[in-house]
Amino acid sequence: MNVLIIGAGYVGTTTGLLFAELGHSVTLIDVDGKKINDMQNGKLFFYEPGLDTLLTKHLCTGKISFEIDHQRAIKDNHVIFICVGTPQNQDGSANLNFLREASEFIGSNLIEYKIIVIKSTVPAGTSKQVKQWIEKTKKDPVPFDVLSNPEFLREGSALKDALYPDRIIVGSENEQATSTLQELYMGIDSPFIVTTPSAAELIKYTANSFLATKISFINEIAKLCDKLDINVQDVAKGVGLDSRIGPLFLEAGIGYGGSCFPKDVLALIDTAKKNGTDLSILEKVHDINENQPDYFIKKVKKRLNGLSAKKIAVLGLSFKSQTDDIRQSPSLKIILSLINEGAIIEIHDPVAKLPYNLADIVCQQDSVEETMIQADAVLICTDWPHYRTIDWAVIKNKMKSPVIFDGRNMLNAGEMRSIGYIYEGIGYK
Ligand code: UGA
Repeated sequence: MNVLIIGAGYVGTTTGLLFAELGHSVTLIDVDGKKINDMQNGKLFFYEPGLDTLLTKHLCTGKISFEIDHQRAIKDNHVIFICVGTPQNQDGSANLNFLREASEFIGSNLIEYKIIVIKSTVPAGTSKQVKQWIEKTKKDPVPFDVLSNPEFLREGSALKDALYPDRIIVGSENEQATSTLQELYMGIDSPFIVTTPSAAELIKYTANSFLATKISFINEIAKLCDKLDINVQDVAKGVGLDSRIGPLFLEAGIGYGGSCFPKDVLALIDTAKKNGTDLSILEKVHDINENQPDYFIKKVKKRLNGLSAKKIAVLGLSFKSQTDDIRQSPSLKIILSLINEGAIIEIHDPVAKLPYNLADIVCQQDSVEETMIQADAVLICTDWPHYRTIDWAVIKNKMKSPVIFDGRNMLNAGEMRSIGYIYEGIGYK
């Protein structure tokens, strides 16, 4: 099948490579010519394990190609996936400008029947809006269908999530179009759920918001654990073994970040408000998350008797491991607080880079050990597995004072203490 992907971002690129792997002919287009040019040369603009290998493979098989002539791209492909970004507006609502541009472009170039699939994360009801945008711009009386097919992949494990999804959700009102999508996903062994477009759109936001709720909930329990001297990991394990709850997304820490949870929680609150209903539970989830980095900083400040002129080693910049994405990273919020408190900061991350506005103020080291030399304390902010295997016993002698604040509860508190560290996690001592 010939598939067009509009938007060669994170989701679009992974989706395109998935369909290429399933044997389809995929064309990618994007308004950013440099991005396309780099990809044509086998270079991705983001770090994602395994994806570059797949890109190289399908540049060779010819299953993936890039089109500069966007009008021709619409004409040549039967199924069109819209994978453009839906960033956050100031008021928390989803910004649909890129989606509108893509829809109007499809509309103005529609000369025969197409299946248009929205993969971007959009509020419930948006597929109707997309239909209207296309209707208004199309010149000929050509039929088309708009389907919703939300994406559930995670950064850092995008390829695995795309190849082995928990489910494929399709919102469709046309059986023929549904069958086409079923054919497109042939080879993927997972439940294929068909529902209305609006329900499919709401499933996406509900899933992300529920996962965010689990995280904020365990972070609140972690604060109680700090007071009661209980290990939150023991609590999470005991609770997670209940099959109705499940063990995942119960890791307490410095809060969730990234380009999805923070924005999607706010967008769902906005949808509820616009429809005259209350999702105050999510307002609380958001507030807890906003305050979680401060909770961590307070612990550090208290233990070190202030932060002015203290040398702090920050391990990890990305919003989680296996990605170079720093959008809404709790680590960045922590670095900004440390700067405000007058600390001297050195940071390490295996792949993520400091944003320009911080590059002159904060020193980024290539070596994790260098980062810790003469440090008053180490703050672990991203769960890079490598931080577990640091020779903590050796590095201790190079630090000014052996203090670890583990914002991801990833080290063994007992082991660290036996080496001679003062160790504090989140709900974990
Ligand atoms: C999230 C969802 O998990 C995907 O299913 C969804 O497709 C994606 O958003 C999206 O909407 O595109 P992602 O943002 O890549 O994926 O990252 P997650 O693995 O969900 O982690 C989000 C944040 O929560 C990270 O900062 C992570 O460190 C934090 N987290 C996660 C915790 O603090 N505790 C946990 O137990 C789990």
